[in-house]
Parts: sequence; structure tokens; C-alpha cells
Amino acid sequence: MDGETAMYKIKDIMKTSISVLMLSGLLVAGSLADAQTEKAPALSQEAEAGRSLYNDWCAGCHGADGLGDGPAADYLDPRPRNFVDGAFKIRNTVSGELPTDEDIFKMIDVGMPGSSMPGWKKQFSEKQIHQLVAYIKTLIDMEFFGEEIPEKITVGEPLPSSAESLAKGKELYRKLKCWECHGEEGRGDGPSAPTLKDDWGNPIISADITKGWTFRGGSHTFDIYRTFTTGLDGTPMPSYIDTIGDEDRWHLSNYVKSLSPLEMPPVKTVLTSRRIKGEIPGNPDDPIWRQGEDYFFPLAGQIVFEPKLYTPSIDSILIKSVYNDKEVAFLITWNDRTRNAPEKGKDELPDSMAVQFPVELKDERPHFVLGDAGNPVNLWKWKAGGDTLEEANARGVGKYFPQGPESQGLKGDAAYMHGRWKLIVKRSLTTEEENNDIQFVPGEFIPISFLAWDGSNNEAGGKMSLSSWYYLVLEKPVTARAFIFTPLAILGAVGLEFLAMRRARRGARSRN
Ligand code: HEC
Ligand code: HEC
Repeated sequence: MDGETAMYKIKDIMKTSISVLMLSGLLVAGSLADAQTEKAPALSQEAEAGRSLYNDWCAGCHGADGLGDGPAADYLDPRPRNFVDGAFKIRNTVSGELPTDEDIFKMIDVGMPGSSMPGWKKQFSEKQIHQLVAYIKTLIDMEFFGEEIPEKITVGEPLPSSAESLAKGKELYRKLKCWECHGEEGRGDGPSAPTLKDDWGNPIISADITKGWTFRGGSHTFDIYRTFTTGLDGTPMPSYIDTIGDEDRWHLSNYVKSLSPLEMPPVKTVLTSRRIKGEIPGNPDDPIWRQGEDYFFPLAGQIVFEPKLYTPSIDSILIKSVYNDKEVAFLITWNDRTRNAPEKGKDELPDSMAVQFPVELKDERPHFVLGDAGNPVNLWKWKAGGDTLEEANARGVGKYFPQGPESQGLKGDAAYMHGRWKLIVKRSLTTEEENNDIQFVPGEFIPISFLAWDGSNNEAGGKMSLSSWYYLVLEKPVTARAFIFTPLAILGAVGLEFLAMRRARRGARSRN
């Protein structure tokens, strides 16, 4: 595998960690399924062809009989669809109706973002996807639905987004109590959110509508409009077709659309720490923290060592870094639907975040899950509830050593508002404990990664979300010489970045 493909694969794994890693297992499960469904009644030729594709590629998740109970199902959240009950989320038909053939086709073709349902565009021809559609329809228990053709929704003229339309949409969001489930600012943290269940009795989280790229049905304005119009069957997300008129549904869609970017923010390899003059502000709302770039890093559940986390709740963080001549600081922001900050002695798991560095800069990076025997890591770990900050070292899972009171004065502060944590951590650039602590030298490429725990999702210890390694660079101070050589300096920086990428790729390749 070349470097390019290796990087791509890592990114892909970060996005759909479970689906990708499980596919090999599914193949085995699929052949098992083949043996179990011999009893099926006579099918059309098209459905028959679909059946064999289904057994090979879909049954591992959706189950041999389409009950959503394949061998992988217990590891997935949301669970794979039970086709027999005929409740489909994404449809162009009114609430409670079956989807159209095109609806099913599209879901198979593009997949369902934010879930483990992959898109199959690259795997199958259009003809094969039609065969799968034909077969899936035979799995539905038609006694409940009868013979009538499902009623399609009528779509009114789209209304362009404007300040006025957004204001109306925002008002509707309040009035229709969307916030009860989705939260004041849309991060899925509303008061009803913890109690929600799907039609099969499984707990279901209400969508974080500030992350449009995780919407199952897509995040174009029309997709959102369709969601309000049809509701998501099988879930508590209702249809508003009888509650508000067509225009209002467009206003609401414009508003929801404005809450998030259309696509997942790009993931960069190198996080640059900006040099500032004067003190590092401890308040996340200080103008200094509003300048400069937010870096986006995806997180995935830890499934390398026991105990594993198959259904992580924190899927990404946003981070900024600044430094001055004494200290380096990070502002880490992440969405978490519930605040878990237990008081001392309370039997509740706290929300938690850690920044991970290698202790020593070598060619080889430590294992991304807490380092390894030959390559220890330095961890800065924050826990909600008493806001404890701990410096620690680790040499692999189960080998975690807090530095204790003589550690080097990590400082920080955290605040929780409307489904989001903001944490600032800072430390002096250098310490006296070179054997245990990372030392920061401007211009050096320092591996950095992140570990996160959501207390309400029973996350603690090895049950965590984590990122792969990225690089941190403290930008070099600008000197008079640098002004003269700016073009050269830029060239040099690009060269270095390239070098870092190459290194990252080499690392990725050696792990693959
Ligand atoms: C890795 C597991 C996995 C595999 C493999 C998989 N699916 Fe899914 N599928 C899911 C999950 C999970 C959902 C439900 C997502 C949700 O509810 O948000 C789903 C949902 C669906 C839906 C429902 C769409 C809707 O609107 O509700 C269809 C149709 C579907 N899958 C078809 C297929 C077909 C066909 C295949 C094989 C070619 C397949 N799936 C393979 C996990 C999988
Ligand atoms: C009773 C709780 C509840 C209410 C009220 C509610 N929703 Fe939802 N909504 C949900 C749940 C649960 C989901 C996630 C379903 C899933 O996992 O597929 C969801 C999903 C969504 C999605 C994502 C759709 C997709 O394609 O994945 C959007 C957008 C959304 N809701 C917006 C709204 C807006 C706007 C309102 C008010 C008009 C609203 N919701 C009212 C519970 C609710």
C-alpha cells in the first residue's frame, strides 16, 4: 500500500471505524446467513440476485432475515435497521408509509452518515443496487402495509436563505420546542434527550444539529426540509407536516442549515501554536482565543485493547493553541450532551479529556493508545468535578503513572454550556523533569493526540474515544532576518510540513 492510500485508509477508519474494521468478520457471518435462508419463498429473478448480494454483504449487520440482528449488530449504535417492521428513516413519503424504491436505492448508494451504514456506490453497479432494493422489499412484513402505493410528500417552492428567513426559523425552533430534544443551541442536549427511545426500545440520542455532516439523510437544505416533512420513522423525530406550513418548513430548514458547515471540517496534519505577546488568557471568550484557526480532529472509539468502546459518544474536538515566551496553552472544545462533574464521593463517572505527547522526540512514535514499553507518553489529563488536572506518564494500557504533587504545574480551567465543554490547559515550555515531561521548542514537530471520556456513556479507563497522532508546531518567532528571507522561510516551512506528512504516512504504513 503506498503512503497516499495508507493516509486515506486511516482517515476512513477514523470516520467509520467500526464498519471498516468489521467488514472482514461480516463476510464470514454472511456465509453463515446464506445457509440459514434456504427456506425463502420463490422470488423474482431480480430479488433472487439481490438475496445473494444481501447475504454476502448486508446480513452481518442486518441479520439473515432482515431483523436488524446480525452478529455485528450489538456493537453498533444506532443499530442496523430491522427491515421486517418497515420503518425507514429517510423517505420521500408521508409519516408511517414505506419508502419509495428510489429512497431505498439512495440509502444503499450513499449510505447513512453518522452511522455505520456504509455507502455502496463503489462496490456495486446500479443494477446490483436495484437487485438489493428488490430483495429488501421482500423482507418487509407487508401484512401491516397493504397493497397501496406509498403516498409521496409534495414539495413546495424552496425559499432562499436570508436574515429574515433565519430569524423566522430560529423563532420556529423555539416555538415548536425543538430545543426540548436538540438543546438551546442544537448540540443534542435538550432536557428530554436522555429519555428518548426508538420504536424498538433502544435508547436513541437526539441529533447534534451543529454537525450537519452526521445527518443520516444528508445536510442540504432540501434534506433537512424533507426530515421535517416526513419525520424519521422508528425514532422520536416527528413529522411537522400537519403542524406548520410549507414556507415555515423552509425557514426552519434554512435556520438548521445555518448551524453547521455542509461538510466535516478538513483534518490537518499539523496544528500550529500561535506566538502571542503578553499573558495567555485563561478565559475562553477572550479575543485572543477568537483569532487564528480552529483545528478539527476526529475521534473514534478505542477498540485495540480491552475494555473496548464500540459506541463512543465524543466524535471530534476543535482545538486552538497559543504560546508566549514562558508557556504553551490549548483551548479544547467538544460537544457532550450531558455534563458529568460528580462531587467528591459521588458514584458517577466524570467527563474527561487528555492531551498526549511522547516523552521523547524520536523517529518512531509511541503507540497511540497510551504509549508502549519502549516509548512512554506524557499525559495531561483533566477530569470534571473539582476540575482536577493531572500530569501522568504511561507505557501502555494498564501502565499509567500519575506524577503526583511534584509535577510541573499544569494549569487550566473548564466551563460547560449548552452541550459543550471548553477547556484551557497550559504548562511552562520547559520543565526540570526531562525524563518524564515533553519539552517545547519552537519549530519542532511534536506528536500530539487526544483522548476523551463521556461519563454518561460509561466511559472510563480504556473505554474512551481517541485520535490518531498529529503534529504540534510552535511557530518560530519572527526576527528581522526572517523578514528578509520570508520567501525562503515559507518554502522551508512547506518543505518541513511535507516532511512531517511523509513521516506521518510512513508511520501509518508501518502500522498497517
Ligand atoms: C456495518 C454494518 C452495516 C452493513 C454492512 C450494512 N448496513 Fe445497512 N444499516 C446499518 C445501520 C447501522 C443502519 C441504520 C442507521 C440509522 O438508523 O441511522 C442501516 C440502515 C440501512 C437502511 C435503512 C435506510 C433508512 O432510511 O432507514 C437500508 C435500506 C440499508 N441499511 C441497506 C443495507 C444494504 C442493502 C446493505 C448491504 C449492501 C447494508 N445495509 C449493509 C448498518 C449496516
Ligand atoms: C421528541 C424529540 C425530538 C423533537 C421534538 C425534535 N427532534 Fe429532531 N431528532 C430527534 C432524534 C431522536 C433525532 C435522531 C434520529 C436518528 O438517530 O436518526 C432527530 C434528528 C433530527 C435531525 C437530523 C436528521 C438526519 O437526517 O439525521 C434534524 C435536522 C432535526 N432532528 C431537527 C429537528 C428540529 C428543527 C425540530 C423541531 C422542529 C426537531 N428536530 C424536533 C428528536 C427530536
